[in-house]
Amino acid sequence: MDIEKGDRIVPIMEGADLGTSIVPTLKRIAKPPVPLLPFAECYYETDIPMTDMLVKLYALPDVNPLLTALNQKGLEIRRPHPSERYVLAEWVRQHFHEPWAVGCEVALENKPVSCYIAVEKRQDHVPSDDPYDLPEEVLVGFACYDVDSKGMFGAMGVKEGRRGQGIGTALLLACLHAMKEEGYAYAVIGWVASVDFYANAAGATVIPDSEPGIFRGKLVGSV
Ligand SMILES: CC(C)(COP(=O)(O)OP(=O)(O)OC[C@H]1O[C@@H](n2cnc3c(N)ncnc32)[C@H](O)[C@@H]1OP(=O)(O)O)[C@@H](O)C(=O)NCCC(=O)NCCS
Repeated sequence: MDIEKGDRIVPIMEGADLGTSIVPTLKRIAKPPVPLLPFAECYYETDIPMTDMLVKLYALPDVNPLLTALNQKGLEIRRPHPSERYVLAEWVRQHFHEPWAVGCEVALENKPVSCYIAVEKRQDHVPSDDPYDLPEEVLVGFACYDVDSKGMFGAMGVKEGRRGQGIGTALLLACLHAMKEEGYAYAVIGWVASVDFYANAAGATVIPDSEPGIFRGKLVGSV
């Protein structure tokens, strides 16, 4: 691979399945008009309005009926453990964006961990007497808060093919209830593309003149 001055080098992750080793390779892109990874150079571009929204944490819907319904389908919403950081970050990197993977890593540094994940327990597990012989849990979604700013929710994502089953709402409400327990009165949903989703799920309202909010950076490593 010949690299010339002015080329932009973007790391590509291969070996995509969870549990396999991830082999980073370099792909040469000669001055691309459209970035391969839209967020790869740490700036944000969008052609739709991306506003912030406000949520009253003292008037949240109960999350427990949703958690029970998901449980009955073998899905659990829980906080990740710091030791699960690598698996979570790689999964988010593969399914969503690099900055969201970094956001998860930041969330796992917080105490308490400011992140919830949705996991599906493998049904083919045969229990044994070994207390550490637990069923594998497959990631299907994540949500973070207190990453870009204190009191701010985001990012969040649910795996394609698992959307529309209440997982996103459960992750959102789990985070918002945790924020309330930690002493916040209101939460800000940062840089929202799906206003209706947050309005319906948590009663969020648009904050006037909040676009582009705090997401203004255009940091690049080189020109
Ligand atoms: C947004 C997202 C997390 C929702 O997750 P989900 O598991 O599908 O959410 P739910 O199943 O709880 O959906 C609840 C409702 O919101 C609706 N909804 C989902 N995504 C929506 C969107 N982008 N805009 C408006 N409504 C949406 C669903 O249709 C559903 O409606 P219903 O109850 O009438 O059927 C998921 O679509 C996703 O990962 N999107 C890509 C990443 C993303 O956009 N993250 C948020 C950035 S602001």
